[in-house]
Amino acid sequence: MRLKFVAVLLVLLPAIGLAASVPKMKMDHVEIALNNKTSLQNGAKLFVNYCLSCHSAQYMRYNRMAVDLGIPEDVVKKNMIFTDTKIGDLMETTMNVKDATTWFGVAPPDLSLIGRLRDPEWLYNYLRSFYLDESSPSGWNNVVFENVAMPHALYELQGQRRAVFKTVTDADGQTVERLDHFELIKPGKMTLEEYDDAMKDLTNFLVYLGEPAKMVRTKYGIWVIVFLLVFGALAFALKKEYWRDVH
Ligand code: HEC
Repeated sequence: MRLKFVAVLLVLLPAIGLAASVPKMKMDHVEIALNNKTSLQNGAKLFVNYCLSCHSAQYMRYNRMAVDLGIPEDVVKKNMIFTDTKIGDLMETTMNVKDATTWFGVAPPDLSLIGRLRDPEWLYNYLRSFYLDESSPSGWNNVVFENVAMPHALYELQGQRRAVFKTVTDADGQTVERLDHFELIKPGKMTLEEYDDAMKDLTNFLVYLGEPAKMVRTKYGIWVIVFLLVFGALAFALKKEYWRDVH
């Protein structure tokens, strides 16, 4: 009996999860390019300037990031570290969990592994979908992550927008709310295209952060395949040589 219950739950859980996470808008595609150092550097700059005040990246050290992304250490020290943190230290936030919980109701999660928890598309769209909402405690809401406790950290860049929703009938005949469009109330420092490009870079950086070794791994991967091909050919030649007298 209990087993049956667990089995039913296991079958249903992903369905429930999926139903709850159907976004109210069309998700735009984003291309991840871990070999694009300029993009990663720009993403890192945005991250330390706009995210690290609330979120940590506690599995990453500043000097590892400097080496991976090709940023000289003195530039990191001068432009990317704002406290008395050392270059060899972990990227921790100055905000303490207790204060954060009082302010936001929930502590901002560590973002080291967010690039694995959420897919790049989700992150890219999330960062572009904040809108003004007077009914939310922070004054902000998000189309991709409804009732999120995070305020729009980048509104100075993107500007302030309102979301206009429409009611539509979905494939199952149910009426659901969907995003119709965003209305720009107050422009930011960037045009919308510039902001999208910046968010591409930030998403790229978050994906790198989730698995820094990926950059090296894909580089080695090619050599591993070359080795296997050469070794395979040699083994084949050797086999032919050994079996020549038998056949
Ligand atoms: C003022 C504090 C603050 C700043 C600045 C901030 N965040 Fe957040 N962020 C939060 C809080 C609080 C949450 C938790 C939201 C929730 O669970 O409702 C959050 C959640 C998130 C999530 C979702 C995590 C999940 O549960 O999947 C992502 C992704 C994220 N932040 C990315 C960023 C990025 C990237 C930046 C920099 C551009 C940033 N945040 C800046 C406070 C902040």
